[in-house]
Order: sequence, then C-alpha cells, then structure tokens
Amino acid sequence: MGALQLAQEGDRLLYWGAGVVTLLFTLLAAFMFRLLLDYLGKWKALKPIPGVSPCYPLLGNALLFERKGEDFFKQIVNNLEEYRNLPLLKLWIGPLPFVILYHPDAVEVVLNSSKHIEKSFPYKFLHPWLGTGLLTSEDGLSQSWVAKYLTKGFLITLLLIHLHLKCLLNVSPCLRVTFCSPYLSCSSYTNVFLINFSFLFLETAMGKNVSAQNNRDSEYVRAIYKMSDLIHHRQKSPWLWSNLMYPMFQEGREHTRSLKILHSFTDNVTCYSFFYCGHDTTAAAMNWAIYLLGCHPEAQKKVHRELDEVFGNSDRPVTMDDLKKLRYLECVVKEALRLFPSVPFFARTTSEDCHIRGFKIPKATEVVVVPYVLHREPEIFPDPEEFRPERFFPENSKGRHPYAYVPFSAGPRNCIGQRFAQMEEKAVLAIILRRFWVETSQEREGLGLVGELILRPNKGIWIQLKRRRVCVS
Ligand code: HEM
Repeated sequence: MGALQLAQEGDRLLYWGAGVVTLLFTLLAAFMFRLLLDYLGKWKALKPIPGVSPCYPLLGNALLFERKGEDFFKQIVNNLEEYRNLPLLKLWIGPLPFVILYHPDAVEVVLNSSKHIEKSFPYKFLHPWLGTGLLTSEDGLSQSWVAKYLTKGFLITLLLIHLHLKCLLNVSPCLRVTFCSPYLSCSSYTNVFLINFSFLFLETAMGKNVSAQNNRDSEYVRAIYKMSDLIHHRQKSPWLWSNLMYPMFQEGREHTRSLKILHSFTDNVTCYSFFYCGHDTTAAAMNWAIYLLGCHPEAQKKVHRELDEVFGNSDRPVTMDDLKKLRYLECVVKEALRLFPSVPFFARTTSEDCHIRGFKIPKATEVVVVPYVLHREPEIFPDPEEFRPERFFPENSKGRHPYAYVPFSAGPRNCIGQRFAQMEEKAVLAIILRRFWVETSQEREGLGLVGELILRPNKGIWIQLKRRRVCVS
C-alpha cells in the first residue's frame, strides 16, 4: 500500500517536473523568438544606413575589431575619416546596431532631445565598478543642484588646488629635482603627476592613500588601467556580454580580481563614479593641454605673457577674478579639448523613432557620438589637426554650429562638472605655468592614443620642465 502511494507520488512529481520544464522551454523559445524578431526588424529598418563590411549575422562587425585599445581607436578613427562624407555610419556589434554620429546636425538630434537621455547598453558593463551612479544611470536626473553645489564649492577647491600643488611640487621625489636643477627631463611623470592630483582629492575626501605620484605602478593605478581595458574589450565583444558566462573566461576572472582591488579602496561606488567622471577626465585634459603647449612655444609664450600680466612675480594663490582674466589660457584649454576630448565616445539609446540626416532611426537603437572625429570637421575647423587656440576667440566662434564642439556632451544629460572642470584646469595650468616652461620632443604620431573610457596616451607624455623663476612664497 505504502509502495503504491509512493509510486503515485513519484508519477505526480514527474508530470509536474515535465510540465515545468516544458513551460520554461516555451517561455525561453518565445523570448528568443521575440529577440529574433527585434533583430530582424532592426536589420531591415537600418538597412539604408551605410555600414562596414564584412558584417555577419548575429556577430555583426565584431570580428573586425582590433583587440588592443590603441589599435582599435586608430581603426575607428581611420574608418570614420574615410567615411567622413557619409551622413551616418552603422556598425553591428553582435546583434546590436550602433549608429555612429560625427556631423553636428546629426549629433544635435540626439543631444538636444529631452527624450533620448537613456545611456546606451554598453554602459551596463561599468555598473559593477561605478555602480548605477550619475554617469551610468539610465534616466536623466535633475542635477542642477549638483552643478550649483560644484560651482559654489569651487572657491574652497581653488585653495586646495593651490595647497596640494604646492605640496606636490615641493615634496614629490620626481619633481623635487626641478627645484635643484634648472633643466630636467620630467619624462612620463606628468601623466602620473596630474592623475595624482586628482587622486589627492579622493585621498582628501576618503582618507585613503593610493600613492599614484610616488608609485607609478601602484596596484590601484594598475587596476584602473586593467579595468578600463577589460570593460572596453567586453563592450565590443558580444560573446563576453552574458554575466553568467563572463566568469568562465580568463577576462572575467581578471575582471573580478581588478574589481576587488578597486573596491577595497572604496566601496562607496557613487563616490568613485563621481571621482572617475570628474577627475580622470580633468587630469587627462590637463595633460593634453600641457603637451600641446610643449609642442607650440608661440602659444605657450602667449600664455606666459598673460600669466605675467595677471600675477607678476608673485606666488599668491589663484583667485576667481584671476581666472576670469586668463582668456587666452581658456582658449588653450578649449582647443586642447577639441583635439583631445577626454571622453572620446559617448552613447545613448533612442527612446522613440527619430530621423537623422534623412534616415529613420528606430526606437531602442544605440547611437554613438564621437567627439574626436566631430571636432575635426574641416569645414568648421579648417586645418583640423593644427593647434590654434585663436579658434575660440569670441569673434572666431561666432556662428559656429552649437553641436560642432561637444567635449562635455550637451543638452539635458551634459556634463554637470563642465564649469568646474574648466576652472580647475585653468587654475592648475596657471600654477604650473607660472613656474615652468614646458618642452616636448614627442611627435603626435608616437603618442599611441588609447580611446577606452578616457582618451589617453599609451606611452605617457614626455615633457621637459624648465624653471622660469624663483617664486616668492
Ligand atoms: C575636462 C573635464 C571633463 C570632461 C571632458 C567631461 C566630459 C563629460 C562628458 C562627455 C559627459 C557625458 C558622458 C555620457 O553621456 O556618457 C560627462 C558626464 C558627466 N560628468 Fe563630466 N567631464 C569633465 C569633468 C567633470 C567634472 C569635474 C565632474 C564633477 C565634478 C563631472 C561629472 C560628470 C557627471 C556626473 C556626468 C554624468 C551626467 C549624466 O549622465 O547625466 N565631469 N562628462
């Protein structure tokens, strides 16, 4: 009797099990079918937009992409330069189409819209590191209070910048030499030097020491580089997208390791997100400005003349009033961001159908803005590779398309730190250039640009600093 009951119970469980499995398979099949329909729909809708070949079903152009960040960036820029005359370009990364925008009127449609504010799918790969913070959150936040706070807080920051830099210039082992010798090769330390400047903010805010200045290979700094390389590679490799499968790849395991190091520094990811948006971008921008001034002594002389007019021989801290007077330096900062925008790509997902340059872009398409290429439109910026701060004199900027220059993005999801960053850059550059004459013999071609999350030189920037004068403290 007991055995019969057990057998009946077993049968019932078997039927239930079979039912559940069948249901799961049906749901999965329906889901896959839906994805397939979406994919085919997008394929058809976007067919008129020029694309790159070869493009394979489901894999798209993914097999074409170079693995290394430096090679990939070169590849994308060369391709876009080649196709500059085309209105738009389409790339498929796996089953996802990306429409690339590099003409001002195309960029305007997306950035000027209060609808297309959702960040693009590949930003999801930043979540484990930066959290769903300001940069990566899917919908726009009302950030005006943050922007206001930042601008107000700048006065305090100005003083901090002065103190920190003074400290750095005097204490740092690599730069201390500058005070003993009239001429020194500062080599790639600049990169670290400026990055360190941003770390100092974090150190001050959170009481942690990452030693970027004194230890170029600090575990933390290496983890940042590793992480941005891994995320960038993941973004362009659809076979690494699944969270379930990712840890099975060597890359996934490295990702976990780097994440552990980064989060051991701070588990306050929102804070980190802020830091990353705010300070790595600014540090990179300052690096590029210094490099470009090193290559262009005429422009640098103009900066020095302006600084001397404002500060004379004194070593007093920079004030807000001083910053307003540094107009030529401001043009240098803008022109440096035109040639080397700290954020070389950013992307959105369209929230409804729209038309860009005569093509219909369906809802939920990924659109990518490429400031690096946009800023080189020869009709707007003649001789685009030339460093000419004068382009940003008010009389020369008049009538320029408002979306031809967007290093801080634009519209409702633009950079909330834009004003802050520009002031910070001017203040730091003023402090350095009041003391030093900068030189470099590094050619642009040798920089090895890497456009991962931030645009940076692969081999660092090599500059020489010559002391200009003894500042009176
Ligand atoms: C030269 C320095 C900077 C550059 C070139 C820059 C550039 C950008 C760009 C292009 C975006 C849009 C990214 C996207 O849509 O995916 C952005 C967003 C953002 N930036 Fe900046 N940024 C700089 C400095 C700063 C500073 C100093 C802060 C804060 C202190 C900051 C905070 C943010 C935040 C929070 C966002 C996300 C805004 C949103 O998604 O709604 N940035 N920045």
